[in-house]
Amino acid sequence: MTVTAQDVRAAAPANAPEDVVEFAIRIAELGKPEKVYFADGSDEEWDRLTTEMVESGMFTRLNPEKRPNSFLARSLPSDVARVESRTYICSEKEEDAGPTNNWYDPAEMKAILNEKFDGTYAGRTMYVIPFSMGPLGGPISQLGIEITDSPYVVVNMRIMARIGTKAMDLINEGRTWVPAVHSVGAPLAPGQEDTTWPCNEEKYITHFPETNEIWSYGSGYGGNALLGKKCYALRIASTMARRDSWMAEHMLILRLTDEKSGKQYHVTAAFPSACGKTNLAMLQPTIEGYKVETVGDDIAWMRQGEDGRLRAINPEAGFFGVAPGTSYKTNPMAMETMKANTIFTNVALTDDGDVWWEGIDAEMPEHLIDWLGNDFTPADAAEGKKAAHPNSRFTTPASQCPIICPDWEAPEGVAIDAILFGGRRASNVPLVAEQYSPAHGVFIGASVASEVTAAATDVKAGSLRHDPFAMLPFCGYNMADYWGHWLELQEQLGESFPKVYQVNWFRKDEDGKFLWPGYGDNSRVLDWIVRRASGEVEGIEGVTGIYPKREDFNLEGAGVSEADWDKMYDIDPDAWAAEMDDTEQYFSQFGDRVPAAIREELAKFRERIAAA
Ligand code: GTP
Ligand code: MN
Ligand code: MN
Repeated sequence: MTVTAQDVRAAAPANAPEDVVEFAIRIAELGKPEKVYFADGSDEEWDRLTTEMVESGMFTRLNPEKRPNSFLARSLPSDVARVESRTYICSEKEEDAGPTNNWYDPAEMKAILNEKFDGTYAGRTMYVIPFSMGPLGGPISQLGIEITDSPYVVVNMRIMARIGTKAMDLINEGRTWVPAVHSVGAPLAPGQEDTTWPCNEEKYITHFPETNEIWSYGSGYGGNALLGKKCYALRIASTMARRDSWMAEHMLILRLTDEKSGKQYHVTAAFPSACGKTNLAMLQPTIEGYKVETVGDDIAWMRQGEDGRLRAINPEAGFFGVAPGTSYKTNPMAMETMKANTIFTNVALTDDGDVWWEGIDAEMPEHLIDWLGNDFTPADAAEGKKAAHPNSRFTTPASQCPIICPDWEAPEGVAIDAILFGGRRASNVPLVAEQYSPAHGVFIGASVASEVTAAATDVKAGSLRHDPFAMLPFCGYNMADYWGHWLELQEQLGESFPKVYQVNWFRKDEDGKFLWPGYGDNSRVLDWIVRRASGEVEGIEGVTGIYPKREDFNLEGAGVSEADWDKMYDIDPDAWAAEMDDTEQYFSQFGDRVPAAIREELAKFRERIAAA
């Protein structure tokens, strides 16, 4: 039994405009689902879907006394992270996707997708999810419709975006929306029993930047399947932003309040996946006199406000955070946020029905069910096995964060005072450095390199890779043109464009020990940055930027010795010369699309090395 056009019309709510209904009919005719359902975003819908998923075995309900209204999902081992090698930018011209993206001809990709999606929903329900990225109706916000055959996607989208009736109302007002089509790629033959994590070994995560379309096939994992997030809010939005003079960035947003003066600062920071955005966004300052509040932990959309300043919103409504390493010690606010109403994916299950992962506060119990669904004991841990997958995640409502900023849903966003770029660097990069000039700021972003983490399946963890602006996997167009876009916006905003700072929490000493305590102590770096940005303190002109004078930097109680400080600021000219050779080599793949200002910054960098 397959859904007909008539069934789709009957299922559509009264406020669904004709173009949405026609889109749903077209996808239903292609995917051939057994049922069709339009999501309204209600509590009742959540209860029904989560209950159905518990019954089907896709979800385990956690102990309501420990973790109310929360669930655990276990994926297949082949579907645990983003798949960069299967992520495509389908622009008309290959050079518009650029050398760092996988490019595919749009017409050819459409032909592949038409074949893959033909009957892909068989035996399943097709869910139609209207959603808003950003506060409903806000001037920086954008709308979309995701169609999917995965209830896991519906309930995760409900946490991560504003879904349902109100988003459909806005679409009904005639605002533009992005069509986003998803399938796990596992049609069911009549009578065939479903698995607990349907997906397909073959995956296609595809983007059509010129027509603002997203098609994703074969994966149920967050970054590949929750299409509002990386696919829309970064890849498609970055191309929309370029056309319309705004910015879509892989950045957290936080508010720092100087409690003495009452002055508020807003900071955004771009770090590659699993390099500390969620942690910094929820930081608990270890120094007196400051308060941090969270606006967003992963994505920032920024646009010049009516006051001329760069304003940022968080397009998301929830946090899709890395679980391992998260604890009351490292990120208490994340722990508080996920006390209820949270979906966990690929963490371990305790015998009393709660969650566990490596690095959580509680010691490893004598018995767990690991992320693969197997028994797990300390003997397994002794063999080096992990009970939770290194990229296991929590999906949790941002509104539950105890330090969520009162203005986190301000439609016009918050005015940004400083922009940070960082990565995971055991050597070379010092704790914090300020740009010499706006173009140097863009150069700092463009030359980010970071040790690879577990956030994508198909790149080797631990090795160093270039990740400009932490956008390598997320920029929807030619990366060198993106640098040019940054330079243009800097020019457009002039003096009000925030200063850029390069930071590194991960430098190690010769014994492999972190030189910087990190986490809450990163408030010390923020303290220096805002004092520096407001012209209170002078800096030292260094090779990579302007460094703090140690006496200006609050190290009281940090446990960082003078020797450690010096090691963090040890600039080896030979190592930096080699790094610049490598950066130049990296830039060369973009040919003459690299903006002249960026080439000049590289030359100036070399001069500073020579003078060091
Ligand atoms: P995505 O959500 O994938 O984009 O990653 P993210 O940038 O939000 O990373 P997250 O904050 O989840 O941090 C990932 C890992 O970095 C965790 O294992 C943290 O414990 C670790 N980490 C975060 N901040 C610090 C820090 O200041 N110092 C050290 N040493 N580790 C940190
Ligand atoms: Mn991210
Ligand atoms: Mn994060």
